[in-house]
Amino acid sequence: MIPVTKPFLPPREEYKNLVDSIWERQWLTNNGPLVNELELKLKEYLNVPHLLYLSNGTIALQIAIKALELRGEIVTTPFSYVATTSSIVWEGCKPVFVDIDPNTLNLDPTKIEEAITPETTGILATHVYGNPCDVDAIQEIADRHNLKVIYDAAHCFGTKYKGKSIFEYGDVSTTSFHATKLFHTIEGGAVFSKCPEVLKKMSFMRNFGHDGPESFAEIGINGKNSEFHAAMGLVNLKYIEEILAKRKELSEYYDSFLKNVKGRSPQLDSQAEYNFAYYPFVFDSPELMQLCYKKLAVSNINCRRYFYPSLASLHYVNETELPVCNSVVERVLCLPLYHTLTYEEIHMIVRIILRVQNN
Ligand SMILES: Cc1ncc(COP(=O)(O)O)c(C=O)c1O
Repeated sequence: MIPVTKPFLPPREEYKNLVDSIWERQWLTNNGPLVNELELKLKEYLNVPHLLYLSNGTIALQIAIKALELRGEIVTTPFSYVATTSSIVWEGCKPVFVDIDPNTLNLDPTKIEEAITPETTGILATHVYGNPCDVDAIQEIADRHNLKVIYDAAHCFGTKYKGKSIFEYGDVSTTSFHATKLFHTIEGGAVFSKCPEVLKKMSFMRNFGHDGPESFAEIGINGKNSEFHAAMGLVNLKYIEEILAKRKELSEYYDSFLKNVKGRSPQLDSQAEYNFAYYPFVFDSPELMQLCYKKLAVSNINCRRYFYPSLASLHYVNETELPVCNSVVERVLCLPLYHTLTYEEIHMIVRIILRVQNN
């Protein structure tokens, strides 16, 4: 079976050594030394001034919305993982969906302004598949309307824009270190912000609001992560360059064959250094996508309709007709991509797709 993704697992001995150190210290969670070390190493690797390590990428979104005090309406994308939308609703806000750009599949900035009302307090956009949004255009609109910007950068570990980490953009940027992500801590996530007050607030919020053993600065939640998760992150971080290079190599191998298939990959921003987090392919027709999806499945090759359905069709939001998104969700597939995928396996996948197309 070829899965759509496989988690990276480091040499067991390396993880075991760190677990042994946890046993010796008997400090399992609550801002332990490995959590601190991971935060430090991630700051160095990403070259960002600050970050807060959290239990997952969904809590990261919820804390970001809460810390920026967003209420009322949040302009957002219909083309993302469900956590982007559910976090908005969970925080008592209303998602207002704007269509996506047909080339990048990110929120289309030219359509944001018409969705802004007196109730709008923020924009929550996803850098889909790790490909940066048009951050300059979005920031310009936000500044003009006095709105906060959150980027769901769950897919973005390693992506840079104009030479700096994509996590540096927006009022708050969030990410996920879930096992399926190219850098992972089994479960995990983080928030990034340039604003010291917002960061401070988020650091209280991730720990029940504590600012001392018996005092509470904010309303909080349990967003902490454990020493065991941090240990996995510390070991995995040693392999990150290898992982990024391998994904690039495999993606380029796919590219060399898929140029003969009726469809295309999302357009990457020319100022971005992409991390090859996924291998999405948008077929020209829903019929071709469905046929390929089924033929690959019977050959035990699992692709994923990532993302399907449109988030603007969820039963708990105001259903919105968005023609570009509605068309893309019917035609897109993420093909298998992980560090141990082989050239032979890619060859087999593209041969099946080409056979379906040419029949
Ligand atoms: C775009 C996006 N946002 C948020 C999340 C949620 O992250 P987590 O699974 O760490 O809660 C994911 C996870 O896949 C995601 O893809």
